[in-house]
Amino acid sequence: MCAARKKTEAVEIETVDLISLLTIPGQDGMFEAEIALLEPCEEIEMEQSAVQASATTSSAFSSGRPDSLHAKKPAEKAKPVDHSLDTLSAIMKRAPALPGINSRYSSPPGDETPISDDSFEKIVSEIARCEKCELCKTRRFTVPGVGNPNARLVFIGEAPGADEDACGTPFVGRAGQHLDKILKAAGFEREKVFICNILKCRPPENRNPTLEEMHHCTPFLRRQLNLIKPSLIACLGNVAIRFVIGADTPGVTKIHGEWFNSIFGLPVMAMYHPSYLVRSGSRERGSPNWQMWQDIQKLKKRYDESAG
Ligand code: URA
Repeated sequence: MCAARKKTEAVEIETVDLISLLTIPGQDGMFEAEIALLEPCEEIEMEQSAVQASATTSSAFSSGRPDSLHAKKPAEKAKPVDHSLDTLSAIMKRAPALPGINSRYSSPPGDETPISDDSFEKIVSEIARCEKCELCKTRRFTVPGVGNPNARLVFIGEAPGADEDACGTPFVGRAGQHLDKILKAAGFEREKVFICNILKCRPPENRNPTLEEMHHCTPFLRRQLNLIKPSLIACLGNVAIRFVIGADTPGVTKIHGEWFNSIFGLPVMAMYHPSYLVRSGSRERGSPNWQMWQDIQKLKKRYDESAG
């Protein structure tokens, strides 16, 4: 073997070792057993359709990266958001419950007016140029969302983190890799669903999004949902849950796995955020990862039924 190749291999081995040293204990081996249970032919089919799905998904739609879209243009004057309690309680007026939905915490009705000639390209481009809040000053890339434009299921997280901000794609960091495993173990193909966040820009230091930031960003999410027309939504973590289901919703530990009405008029399941699951580590009976496994199977069942 030539010296240059030996050197390259040595560097590769060192890199792999460094990665395994940096991997949080408990993250590996968590859903591999379920993934291994999938029929081999099913896996091959999944890979083939993943290739097809990525070939048909527009890159402008799936990433916030195109540099031409990041040219600065004069900021649109942001409409002031009224956060007074009166306004919030007015919008918290109960929406009619959907069938099979837990209506205890049903969400406020949303603004359903669709934009007639809307498109994913338009939305991605507007997100890339958005300067409605201060996050535009600190973001690297906007993170509009990724997946199937005709998805029957949309996962909604909170906001991009450092890894997502660096590449323009949601859920690619450690939490995202954990989510990928959970999806795969349950038989979901990441390319067949749509994955996005409430916020399209990273809050500095990964702080929680403010209500004002969420209000500025939700019209983009609403437009995405109007185009995708999914049958189901899954909200990952308390921030997304409280915004999409209602501010009076109890924490995710109490309501995970339950179906609710959403501000988008679609049934939504409350789910744990994958970064919480990574941190909690264990998959013992009763643990958050164990509970997530029950919830994702329940979600898959309803997803399969919605195909009918
Ligand atoms: N956490 C989120 O809520 N969203 C991401 O895209 C990444 C981490």
